[in-house]
Amino acid sequence: MMQKRKFGPLENHVSLMGQGTWKMELNPKESQQALLRGIDMGLTHIDTAEMYGEGQVEEIIAPVLKTHRQNIFLVSKVLGTNASFNATIHACEQSLRRLETDRLDLYLLHWRDNIPLEETFAAFERLVEDGKIGAFGVSNFDVSDLEEGYSIAGPGKIACNQVLYHATQRAIERHIGPWCKAHQVALVAYSPLGQGSFPQNKTQTGQVLSQIADKYHASPEQIALTFLARDANTFLIPKANKIKHLEDNAQSMDIELECSDLKFLEENLPQPPENPSLPLL
Ligand SMILES: NC(=O)c1ccc[n+]([C@@H]2O[C@H](COP(=O)([O-])OP(=O)(O)OC[C@H]3O[C@@H](n4cnc5c(N)ncnc54)[C@H](OP(=O)(O)O)[C@@H]3O)[C@@H](O)[C@H]2O)c1
Repeated sequence: MMQKRKFGPLENHVSLMGQGTWKMELNPKESQQALLRGIDMGLTHIDTAEMYGEGQVEEIIAPVLKTHRQNIFLVSKVLGTNASFNATIHACEQSLRRLETDRLDLYLLHWRDNIPLEETFAAFERLVEDGKIGAFGVSNFDVSDLEEGYSIAGPGKIACNQVLYHATQRAIERHIGPWCKAHQVALVAYSPLGQGSFPQNKTQTGQVLSQIADKYHASPEQIALTFLARDANTFLIPKANKIKHLEDNAQSMDIELECSDLKFLEENLPQPPENPSLPLL
């Protein structure tokens, strides 16, 4: 069964690997089957957003929740442009309506726009008080945003920072990852397979991953996921519509890389830049 980890300041542990849902509106039936299979394998952290398919993805997830709501760690996000106090409350209520549930486990600010964080966080606190969300967090926050958010919300309030992190985009390893770990904020890696543009075998990165993959009778994608999950504060939310992909992803979390292989990957996958800005692509 999928390993669970302590998720930032939350009391409940959350599955190390979850399921992304971006673009699931393109294949609703296949997506629902994939979500169900993923839940069977313990990928119970489901990540969605009001943005995905302009609400359609939340509607696609709703029937899946009917029989499994208790086991799922359900996450949605408010758009940065909707993050004023009133609009955040409204956006959350709309997400709950589309998901046909009365509570999100976690609600994230998808990215920062021009709205003061005080307003968004005040809305999040109200939603917690009203029992509509269990906790709140942020996404696409750089260290300066995190510092500001932490000073407004206080310790133990921001449950996670969801950021771009994959084998060829390791910028968060420099500052964002260590900051999150030091402040008990879970780091959730989005697009951990590079949004489907995974390094081909013929590239240098592809060869590095293949070399280790061959040793463990695994795929390069599985090795990349195993590598990303090496820190205990990290969670992964790959999106997979194909059952084979889902199964491979789930099984990758059982691979135990030897220290020498981890070191080889650390040193030979593309390095994070010295002074990275927040990665978005
Ligand atoms: N907070 C944010 O701003 C933000 C931004 C982007 C994404 N996200 C979240 O993160 C989730 C994941 O990111 P993503 O959807 O951008 O991309 P991703 O998970 O990096 O990649 C998804 C692609 O990889 C393929 N795939 C999955 N497992 C595979 C495997 N084992 N072998 C080969 N190919 C595999 C999928 O194919 P199939 O679907 O055909 O199986 C799909 O084409 C999103 O769905 C969303 O929930 C958040």
